[in-house]
Amino acid sequence: MHYDPRKRDHGLPHDPFLSLVVPRPIGWISTVGKDGVVNLAPYSYFAAVCSNPAHVVFGSAGRKDSMRNAEETGEFVVNLATWTLREAMNESSANFGPHESEPMLTGLAMAASINVGAPRVAQAPAALECRYVSTTALTNEAGEAVPHSIILGRVVGVYIEDAILREGQVDLRGLGVLSRLGYMEYGVLDTIFTMARPAQRPPAQR
Ligand SMILES: Cc1cc2nc3c(=O)[nH]c(=O)nc-3n(C[C@H](O)[C@H](O)[C@H](O)COP(=O)(O)O)c2cc1C
Repeated sequence: MHYDPRKRDHGLPHDPFLSLVVPRPIGWISTVGKDGVVNLAPYSYFAAVCSNPAHVVFGSAGRKDSMRNAEETGEFVVNLATWTLREAMNESSANFGPHESEPMLTGLAMAASINVGAPRVAQAPAALECRYVSTTALTNEAGEAVPHSIILGRVVGVYIEDAILREGQVDLRGLGVLSRLGYMEYGVLDTIFTMARPAQRPPAQR
């Protein structure tokens, strides 16, 4: 089959698009509102876009609390969501009001970050402490506004639970790192393999 997503003419019961961009890492984002309320929500429009300097992005469908808090306070934290945290991660996506604290409502313990004011999820084995850089309001190819934004942050602190460091490397085996697939489906990272990159040719031979 082939379809045009602009016309949504796939003829299927559910839009297949997101089931084809998989697995998507889940940026589980903690922020603090101007009023001091801690906010937590999962974002699977999430990616690292460069590592030196380290930057991440998340995409917000509309102006949600995470985006607003990141813009207003200049900070957000990305927590690594794992199998044991799956229910809490899912619950934190519920539509809480801006003055309600998701961690409090889900009974999830938070821990202080080092380089930003927003706390991290205490049980998450890793967290990226970010300074807000910019918001890009998306448009289509004709320059017309669409109700989505991309929020860019620079990573200024990295928390790694000591127990997942083995021989100098992060070892995620056994943690069940979660990813988002299409529909209501999720993936769990359960197979890791190593492959060396091909020998790099000098620029003149490329
Ligand atoms: C696994 C998962 C991934 C999600 N990814 C996104 C996303 O990338 N962008 C988005 O706008 N909403 C996403 N959502 C929905 C938000 O988590 C939800 O709207 C939440 O209430 C937003 O919270 P906030 O207003 O506190 O930021 C996702 C939900 C789940 C369960």
